[in-house]
Amino acid sequence: MKIRIPATSANLGPGFDSCGIALSQYLNIEVVESTDQWKIIHSLGSDIPSDETNLLIQTALKLAPNLTPQLLKMTSDIPLARGLGSSSSVIVGGIELANRLGNLNLSQKEKVEIATKIEGHPDNVAPAICGDFVVASYVEGEVHSVKHHFPMCDVIAYIPDVHLLTSESRSVLPNSISYKEAVQASSIANVMIAAILNGNLPLAGLMMEKDRWHEAYRKKLVPHLDQIRTISREIGAYGAYLSGAGPTVLVISPEEKTDQMVEKLGKLPYSATINVLSIDQEGIQVF
Ligand code: HSE
Repeated sequence: MKIRIPATSANLGPGFDSCGIALSQYLNIEVVESTDQWKIIHSLGSDIPSDETNLLIQTALKLAPNLTPQLLKMTSDIPLARGLGSSSSVIVGGIELANRLGNLNLSQKEKVEIATKIEGHPDNVAPAICGDFVVASYVEGEVHSVKHHFPMCDVIAYIPDVHLLTSESRSVLPNSISYKEAVQASSIANVMIAAILNGNLPLAGLMMEKDRWHEAYRKKLVPHLDQIRTISREIGAYGAYLSGAGPTVLVISPEEKTDQMVEKLGKLPYSATINVLSIDQEGIQVF
């Protein structure tokens, strides 16, 4: 059995802790054979455990404590701690592993609920499970989510060669904002979502750049965000936003502008990887 889970990009600017898209980079897990002890063969570095303490197995055992240990192979092209949902992909993979090996028969809705409760937010795990574009809420223990088609476009990921932990990136957020600001921030998010549903990426991109919930507070951690926005406007991409908690910035681009964007982004004075991706429409797959 092989399980494939997509990378994800959360927030889309004003859809903070709520909106996310699935992307065409993947975590792959292969179940090789039953063994005496859990073991994962991977080449993700010595910081990632290869035994039962790995988040993948911990998650699976949380759901099904009596699973027979397995030898697993894991490969991933989702960079770690960069705002592309690497840990969410592992949590979602662990849930699917328990679902299949333990015959739990979980529905997609149940998987989204369990993953959200483990991860704490739905905006990465829900698109990793459902694919495409997902809008979700997690309030007072209740999880609700809606999947919808994201309009055709390229997604350019500007991935700085530095880690930024979600905890660090959340530590700079305020404890409260005023009622007036919250109403404005919510209206911007509402228009962005409605524009995506309408297939209107120029308007969606405009609203993506008007977030009032988190990006202004995080700017000091991600100095490249404003520079990327300037380039995106010059070239005529739809918009750019901080992917999840950062440091990756995603540019939503019409296909014909992508080469120009990549060339200009490559000239910024940072060490970074630039990947041209597309939206993954399927979410988690089991082969
Ligand atoms: N929405 C989260 C944040 C990221 O921006 O901190 C993933 O849950």
